[in-house]
Amino acid sequence: MNHKTKAISFSLAMLMSAFAWNAQSYADEVTGVELPVMLAEVSPANIFNVNLKKPKSRNLPPAEDGIHDPENEATHSLQHPLDAYKGLPTSEYGNYVDWVKALDEGKLRPRWDRSDPNEEPFVLDLDIVRPVKASVPDVVFPHRQHTEWLYCSNCHPAIFIPQKNANQISMSAILLGEKCGVCHGKVSFPIETKTCRKCHSKPKPADWTPPLSEATLKNPWK
Ligand code: HEC
Ligand code: HEC
Ligand code: HEC
Repeated sequence: MNHKTKAISFSLAMLMSAFAWNAQSYADEVTGVELPVMLAEVSPANIFNVNLKKPKSRNLPPAEDGIHDPENEATHSLQHPLDAYKGLPTSEYGNYVDWVKALDEGKLRPRWDRSDPNEEPFVLDLDIVRPVKASVPDVVFPHRQHTEWLYCSNCHPAIFIPQKNANQISMSAILLGEKCGVCHGKVSFPIETKTCRKCHSKPKPADWTPPLSEATLKNPWK
């Protein structure tokens, strides 16, 4: 085998193992039959996106959650979520904890700086309303709930230009793991029917009518 074929067969082996790792199965809720789920076939966008998988059960131990590396010893020293999350306010999705409420109720005190326990977060209380052309309620992006956990630089300027409506955001981008989807569906609450209204929280004005498309407005046959 020369260097080139060696390199090719090595990358093929890597590819195959990646597919093997992505292949999961779950028992169909109705029939109990094990169905294979090829995540790579669903979308290569992001295999961590919980929207693409059906969870086997709630809050699996770290070594079984498909996120932490079971081969790594440190994974086994992590607390089981069912113990760690005891006493925290619950939600009906994601990892079933309402993290914003937990912080608001003082049940958690995340350390803002690794070495300085007294460092305080820089919280920005600024809501950004994103009117949505579709008939769903408009989106309110709240800075407060985000800056209680995150630095400005976690989002600005790599994910969002810090200027109202300077960013193009769509549901498809979010579901592909971009924009809000960089975090939502991975480290923060996922996109599913139960969570639409967390983002789409501002009812449309009473006199709202669907905007007409360019094609309708400029229709030469009208
Ligand atoms: C979780 C992501 C996120 C974090 C963290 C974040 N922002 Fe933003 N920021 C946004 C989004 C989304 C917008 C709206 C952009 C748009 O409408 O196109 C925005 C808009 C802004 C704007 C524009 C406001 C306007 O009226 O034009 C400023 C200024 C801003 N952010 C400052 C900050 C500062 C300062 C921090 C840290 C204290 C911060 N942001 C943290 C996501 C974030
Ligand atoms: C993490 C926040 C978030 C969640 C959860 C969410 N959306 Fe969105 N949605 C957005 C943002 C942001 C936009 C873009 C708004 C804009 O035009 O600026 C959007 C846009 C839309 C649009 C307009 C068309 C498009 O693709 O841009 C529709 C329809 C929509 N969402 C439906 C839903 C439904 C249904 C759910 C629940 C299954 C949902 N959304 C959950 C944030 C979210
Ligand atoms: C850098 C990561 C990150 C990005 C990007 C991000 N979020 Fe979040 N978001 C979080 C975290 C972390 C929380 C708090 C934990 C949770 O609620 O899951 C949160 C909470 C929220 C909440 C608060 C829910 C409540 O209970 O009050 C809303 C609403 C929200 N996000 C909407 C959005 C929208 C809309 C976008 C895109 C415009 C977005 N987020 C982008 C990380 C992010």
